[in-house]
Amino acid sequence: MKKLIINGGNELSGTIKIGGAKNSVVALIPAAMLSDEVVIIDNVPNISDVQKLIEMVKLLGAEVTYENDTLIIDNRKSKNAEISEEYSTSIRASYYFMGVLLSKYKKAKISYPGGCVIGSRPIDFHLKGFEKLGAKIKIEDNSYTITAEELKGTEIYLDFASVGATINIMFAAIYAEGTTKIYNAAKEPEIVNIVSLLNSMGARVSGAGTDVITIKGVKKLERGRIEVIPDRIEAGTYIMLGTLLGNNLKIEGVIKEHLGAVIAKLQETGADLKFVENYVIVNKVEKLKSVNIITKTYPGFPTDLGQPMSTLLTQCEGISKFEETIYENRMRHIPHLNEMGANIEADNCNAKIIGKTNLVGREVIATDLRAGAAMMVAGMIAKGTTIITNIEHILRGYENIVDKLSNVGADIKLIED
Ligand code: EPU
Repeated sequence: MKKLIINGGNELSGTIKIGGAKNSVVALIPAAMLSDEVVIIDNVPNISDVQKLIEMVKLLGAEVTYENDTLIIDNRKSKNAEISEEYSTSIRASYYFMGVLLSKYKKAKISYPGGCVIGSRPIDFHLKGFEKLGAKIKIEDNSYTITAEELKGTEIYLDFASVGATINIMFAAIYAEGTTKIYNAAKEPEIVNIVSLLNSMGARVSGAGTDVITIKGVKKLERGRIEVIPDRIEAGTYIMLGTLLGNNLKIEGVIKEHLGAVIAKLQETGADLKFVENYVIVNKVEKLKSVNIITKTYPGFPTDLGQPMSTLLTQCEGISKFEETIYENRMRHIPHLNEMGANIEADNCNAKIIGKTNLVGREVIATDLRAGAAMMVAGMIAKGTTIITNIEHILRGYENIVDKLSNVGADIKLIED
């Protein structure tokens, strides 16, 4: 079992470079397989979700090279294959092969996806979208067989602006005859990145970044190349750390516009952030003010930063409220924060955080990826030693976390026992 051992309290100075966005690359890799040609993805983060996807791409017959952050996927020998439970449950994003394989081969056989246990996480919008395009779905023992004689452009309305459903339906509609419109589409920057790749391959998708996306079906996709956008969640996590421990901490590779809500809320606490070109300098602030946060779809405060932000709120003077509106179960880290000395009252979706409280090192669990980030931030500011177990979750989303933090002065190491 892998663990993180952190001796808290060290000041952080130097530079942290932000990697490519997890939630973008996990869709870009399946997207690349829509073509029968070579597709190149640059700025690919070295995270375990990428390794799992590479295994799936190989299972589907593609040749893959991954060197110096660049992933080359050669689809010239790619073929359809069943994606069994062993593969699909290892990550959430395996569900993107539903849309890709259905689109390309008119048949996808894949088991239900995995991912963090942060709520029930149904995939009904994806499936309804496929059906509206003309597909038939058979579910047996957790395995989905999705087939279509032909896929036809249609109009799809999403009850919720789901990131996964928007992307998966776009994939399924790429080769459909005619035009598909997705209403109430997700607007996250990751969607724009994925559409840039699709269009570089010859797709005809417009409206990415707005809530209506139009896909005009094409007959063939060609070669393509894309750079993964910087991970706004990784950047946001390190900006929070800088606010608590920074001494001219430079965080490089940040697109400020992608973090609008987070920056506004941090500034409301009194955070000291100086943005210059593509980087930000962050300095510790001794007296932070309490704020209320409510997670929302983009451009609202991202659900993936609610948990690390809740750790920062333990250091703010006064009462802060944190309301999670996307998932039903994003508060599993709260008991661990309380064990470390925080004063938080919480139910499944709401937390009242009473600050400021001094945190002390304990053995705690990373119950999911962003809960793990919250515990990492807590360990970094706590007095004494924090041991975080189940850190496989953290390694799914934060590339080279130990090196990145050690290089700026943190006392953090990964052990395996
Ligand atoms: N939903 C449905 N039915 C569906 C799809 C979604 O009811 O068919 C509901 C979900 O239950 C949830 C809400 O809609 O309540 C949002 O789900 P969404 O589909 O937007 O999330 P996702 O695509 O499964 C992606 C990221 C998440 C991130 C969310 C929101 C990937 C692989 N995952 O999830 O990332 O929190 O968008 O931005 O891209 C993470 O990185 O820690 C993470 C969980």
